[in-house]
Amino acid sequence: MPTLNEIRSTFLNYYSKQGHEVVASSPLVPRNDPTLMFVNSGMVQFKNLFTGVETRDYARATSAQKCVRAGGKHNDLDNVGYTARHHTFFEMLGNFSFGDYFKKEAIPYAWELLTKEFDIPKDRLLVTVYHTDDEAAEIWKKVAGFSDDRIIRIPTNDNFWQMGPTGPCGPCTEIHYDSTPDASGGNLVNMDHPDVIEIWNLVFIQFNAEADGSFRDLPSRHVDTGLGFERACSIIQNTKGFTDFSRKPSNYSTDVFRPIFDILERLSGKEYEDVYPEPGTENQDEVVKTAVAFRVIADHLRTLSFSIADGILPGNTGRNYVLRRILRRAVRYGRSLGFTGDEFVLTALVGTLVSQMGDVFPELRGRESIIVDTLKREERSFNETLDRGLTLFEEEAAKLSQGIFPGDAAFKL
Ligand code: SER
Repeated sequence: MPTLNEIRSTFLNYYSKQGHEVVASSPLVPRNDPTLMFVNSGMVQFKNLFTGVETRDYARATSAQKCVRAGGKHNDLDNVGYTARHHTFFEMLGNFSFGDYFKKEAIPYAWELLTKEFDIPKDRLLVTVYHTDDEAAEIWKKVAGFSDDRIIRIPTNDNFWQMGPTGPCGPCTEIHYDSTPDASGGNLVNMDHPDVIEIWNLVFIQFNAEADGSFRDLPSRHVDTGLGFERACSIIQNTKGFTDFSRKPSNYSTDVFRPIFDILERLSGKEYEDVYPEPGTENQDEVVKTAVAFRVIADHLRTLSFSIADGILPGNTGRNYVLRRILRRAVRYGRSLGFTGDEFVLTALVGTLVSQMGDVFPELRGRESIIVDTLKREERSFNETLDRGLTLFEEEAAKLSQGIFPGDAAFKL
């Protein structure tokens, strides 16, 4: 079974062989872009190439970009922990054309990579196109041999991608993976159903969204694609070479998370099982609660560590405040695993993350001590606040005679 590093390299090597420059991930702070809190996709570092403001000596690029989606237009924070596929931090694998190739090349490249390099069976894949994009639909028919029912036309902005309120954008075609036992999940596309998940978005950039809400034609046409790396790992690693579909792909049962869970199991004395709450149920049993907490802590550890390595510290405003909220969410879930106010669970996991990812993202290794110091300080301070709150709550609750909690104590809490 290929490891996460092998899956990432297979992607980058494939596009390198097709003449793409392998470009390192940009830091998580968007450079020259006040409209974004964090880099949220692979195309952000190339934005000025799409708009024509900048040119470089390559017209094709590929990257594994660090992304955070928390706060702002694309925000997954509240889902994290409760599903098998949401993260605040993730890697996006992408290939980009700057006025070079377009749909006729981008679609066959993606198809060849998925079905030949990654060996994903063709009958497990479905695609969507923007409802008016006959050209993309025709290319899919030719390249994949799909009948019309496997090429689903979508009239909404699900198939029209925008980076933010302004900036480069265009229609897209999305590739979905069907893990139903008999590959019959066509009607589950875009239903937010765990059995049919979007894995890759191919955007055909043609317009710039302007501040007044209009769309301006760009001078050239470009390609921007994004393959969810952890989702790709889940599909490739969870099905035993695509022979066992009884096991659902889960990003959290891959070697992206296993090393972190191993240490968390040791520290908490609890075992991780890849189980999820039933949608809409309030009361979850202990095994599910433990699983949610493991996922929250591991995901948030990654967001915090990568952000701090890129110079974003928890604080009181903007993206710094988003980080502080993420840290506090992780600490609260840590309490539900039984960690006390004297234990710093995130801090204890940094070394594991650095060993796992430090070769690919050397900034983690270079700034490890800053990450550790920052997390420890924040964890300590929030633990103290939590403990003060809990003590106050217990004192007031003990005094209760009438079952009415005093308003001034509630305010303090
Ligand atoms: N920008 C597109 C996305 O984020 C494709 O990379 O989905």
